[in-house]
Amino acid sequence: MGLLDEQRAYYQARAGEYDEWWYRQGRYALQPDEEQRWFADVASAEHALDAFAPAGDVLEYACGTGLWTRRLARHATSVLAVDASPAVITLNQARNLGAHVRYHQADIFAWTPPRAAYDVVFFSYWLSHVPTDLFAPFWAQVAAALRPGGRVFLIDSHHTAELPGHVQRRTLNDGREFRVVKRFWQPADLSAAVAPLGWRLTAQTTPNGHILHATATQSHSVVVPPPAHGR
Ligand SMILES: C[S@@+](CC[C@H](N)C(=O)[O-])C[C@H]1O[C@@H](n2cnc3c(N)ncnc32)[C@H](O)[C@@H]1O
Repeated sequence: MGLLDEQRAYYQARAGEYDEWWYRQGRYALQPDEEQRWFADVASAEHALDAFAPAGDVLEYACGTGLWTRRLARHATSVLAVDASPAVITLNQARNLGAHVRYHQADIFAWTPPRAAYDVVFFSYWLSHVPTDLFAPFWAQVAAALRPGGRVFLIDSHHTAELPGHVQRRTLNDGREFRVVKRFWQPADLSAAVAPLGWRLTAQTTPNGHILHATATQSHSVVVPPPAHGR
């Protein structure tokens, strides 16, 4: 199975146990002091998103079970929440976030969003799963989806280490193993990587270093050729 197929299969299989990681339950449990630092960072990232105020029409890539969709729904006029996994979409829908939140099942790398339709594009724990050769096409897709003056807010894992080949092995509670793309970004590196693609991006990490979050707007438009090979 190709790496991106395996990544999709992993999240489909993990859907029912995904939130255990976020809430530090079961095998994701932390020592009390480390748990306290984790939840302080979560609160800090949530505060940053609320301060950004994702109002208007919002596109959420890779919405997952809705840990962030629920926060977008408080600010937005409408949310289109997109994910490849039917199982996570079902869990997200079960949060009953309101009629202004709609869902679309799609492979982001093969999907064309409505053009110039959104005031905000949001993605959490998604950019680190975008492989290097699809990085520029992904940002071009975001640019095409935004209205003039549109804004991006992203959240992701923060680690100072790099994984060899940007590939990580993940295990489910039942022991099944999958490979995913995992590319950790440092704030300055991320700003530098998107600048030539026409983005002005400001990134920071939460006080205990667990989470990276960033805002971005377009500085100029760039035509990105499609990737050289399909997957
Ligand atoms: C790490 S989870 C993040 C979920 C959510 N944004 C959050 O922060 O809780 C990554 C999500 O990406 C989705 N995903 C993986 N590959 C995808 C693809 N090619 N197209 C669309 N969604 C994909 C998975 O189904 C999963 O819900």
